[in-house]
Amino acid sequence: MSRGLSLRKGAAGARILGFGDYRPRRIVTNDEISQRVDTTDEWIRTRVGISERRFAGDDESVVDMSVAAAGKALATSGVLAQDIDTVIVATCSAPAPIPGLAPEVAHRLAISAPGAFDLNAACAGFCYGLSAAADAIRSGSARYALVIGAEKLTDWTDQDDRGTCIIFGDGAGAAVVAASDTPGVGPVVWGSDGEKSRAISVAGRSSFMTMDGRAVYRWATTQLADSAHRACELAGVDIGEIDVFVPHQANLRIVDSMLRTMKFKDDVAVARDIVYSGNTSSASIPLALTAMIERGEAKTGDTALLLGFGAGLTYAGQVIICP
Ligand code: UT7
Repeated sequence: MSRGLSLRKGAAGARILGFGDYRPRRIVTNDEISQRVDTTDEWIRTRVGISERRFAGDDESVVDMSVAAAGKALATSGVLAQDIDTVIVATCSAPAPIPGLAPEVAHRLAISAPGAFDLNAACAGFCYGLSAAADAIRSGSARYALVIGAEKLTDWTDQDDRGTCIIFGDGAGAAVVAASDTPGVGPVVWGSDGEKSRAISVAGRSSFMTMDGRAVYRWATTQLADSAHRACELAGVDIGEIDVFVPHQANLRIVDSMLRTMKFKDDVAVARDIVYSGNTSSASIPLALTAMIERGEAKTGDTALLLGFGAGLTYAGQVIICP
């Protein structure tokens, strides 16, 4: 029989200390898009809920946006860059597969030699990253982690394809996650359905993204409510006690369908950042929540249910306590 190994002793839990975001400078309206493809402002607003989105410029790379969002999250949380020991960049729109972006992001933030890796779970990426960070903190592998969701989806979107170009935008959001005696990141409920992996895909290095929007819409509105309820159950919170609901910002009609299915309280605050940001994949949840915190819609101590879903197909949800 082989001997067992020693393990580190981790913290009782993990807690988010602060969020930050970065929104690219250029605002692109529906009217601007309808000058190029056969669509209308009215169709986009009623079928998807988007009024405008941001497109990143040449000086706004995934790394640039990650650094900006993470710098803001560090400032908001009061944590020093030198204290961060783990950096996770959730993205599905890195310009190249090698190297991963997290080490460069850490270097530009003057974080010294952290564990640093990229994670691709598409639009569920931020929730996967948050879970990885919280579990690393609980197992003792980390004490202060940066979790970033950052996308430059316009690099991978055919601006002549009205099925995708009206939807996707660019941006980044970040959270500082720290060891805590009072857990503020609940257990994740995650999963995937690889049988539908072709529903959203990029065929090769010179290809753009294709999406079977109807299939993803059907899946999102019929398969995810149970996981959201389970995430609440595991965190010991009744769904009727949730103060803030932050689903991935894919389509406002998906958000409204989830609100009809799930039994939230009447005055639950709901993220609707898609109206101004479009669909920013792994950045959408931290972007939306940062804005809600800044507007006072999500307050310190509130319970928030996060629910990411998208390409893969992947999904992940957890309850957090707002910083
Ligand atoms: O974040 C990753 C996860 N992604 C998602 O969750 C996306 C989920 N899916 C969706 O949000 C929606 O399926 C879309 C917004 C992508 C599309 O909306 P839809 O209501 O499902 O449209 P559809 O594909 O069923 O098309 C309905 C009609 C079609 O015309 P006909 O065949 O009925 O004459 C389309 O050709 O709308 C037409 N159409 C458009 N019309 C104007 C499709 N795209 C457009 C457009 N402008 N941009």
